[in-house]
Amino acid sequence: MGTECRADAQLSDYAARVLEQVAVAPGCRLLTVSSPGLARAASPGQFALLGCGTGYDPFLRRPLSFHRVDVKRGKVSFLYRVKGSGTQWLAERRRGDVIPVLGPLGRGFRHSDRGKRGLLVGAGLGAAPLLFLAERLSRQAWSLTVLLGAPTRTGILRADAFERFGTVRTVTEDGSTPKKGTILDLLQEEINRGGWDTIYACGPRVVLKAVQEISARTGIPAQISVEERMACGLGACLGCACRSASSSGYLRVCREGPVFDAGEVILDD
Ligand SMILES: Cc1cc2nc3c(=O)[nH]c(=O)nc-3n(C[C@H](O)[C@H](O)[C@H](O)COP(=O)(O)OP(=O)(O)OC[C@H]3O[C@@H](n4cnc5c(N)ncnc54)[C@H](O)[C@@H]3O)c2cc1C
Ligand code: FES
Repeated sequence: MGTECRADAQLSDYAARVLEQVAVAPGCRLLTVSSPGLARAASPGQFALLGCGTGYDPFLRRPLSFHRVDVKRGKVSFLYRVKGSGTQWLAERRRGDVIPVLGPLGRGFRHSDRGKRGLLVGAGLGAAPLLFLAERLSRQAWSLTVLLGAPTRTGILRADAFERFGTVRTVTEDGSTPKKGTILDLLQEEINRGGWDTIYACGPRVVLKAVQEISARTGIPAQISVEERMACGLGACLGCACRSASSSGYLRVCREGPVFDAGEVILDD
């Protein structure tokens, strides 16, 4: 039986208390909050909307994927890049501060059976939702290989954390890791090696499109975590819609996604 990661029944607005906030790379931070209810409800690939200010600016909450969840200790971590005013506000939170967190939202990664072989593809910040997935899959005796790629070494995020759950291979475009190239080079090498049951990917469109193409060509099932600008995050505004591959309609990234089967959506540039 597969898992279906939708949790509307458990959706709540939590007052999450900051436990720790550390810089993991230039402009990238790891935020850990205490929120036992959210930790119990969250599944890999789902996301939360984090309040990012005290007044009306920014007005909208910001979506971040669950990076790591420790159910026993009631901890939830987010890995994020500081981009604009919302994430800047988050970066200034200190231990003890409270952040409103609405979640869990969306449909996460699906996985079935035990003991399969999984290939995880995380380009840059695409590593964010994959660590939680890696932990869950390794607990179910999956054998995992994790590919992490970035332009330079500082963009390779959390390689040491992934090593606890599988084999990690890294690649950088400037050759500052032993392997020089793009994550697509590494992906092609692993596909040639063969034996994969499922590919799970998160990262820029070019990487997700390559995974779609590989999945269609080889028949290896793949799931891709898609990012779109979001407003409501709850399926009401249609601001995050992307084209369905099976009809002339649209799918909402915040409801039917963010994780789609590779053949489910058409990704525009
Ligand atoms: C389902 C989902 C999960 C996400 N998970 C993560 C995560 O785990 N870690 C992380 O760092 N980021 C993640 N993001 C992206 C994150 O939500 C944005 O970076 C954040 O909202 C930016 O807010 P801001 O106020 O700092 O910047 P803003 O001032 O809102 O924007 C700054 C710049 O970033 C661009 N931008 C903002 N949001 C997006 C977006 N979604 N896609 C492309 N460009 C955008 C804007 O156009 C602008 O140029 C996720 C997005 C989605 C939809
Ligand atoms: S953000 Fe409003 S429907 Fe998805």
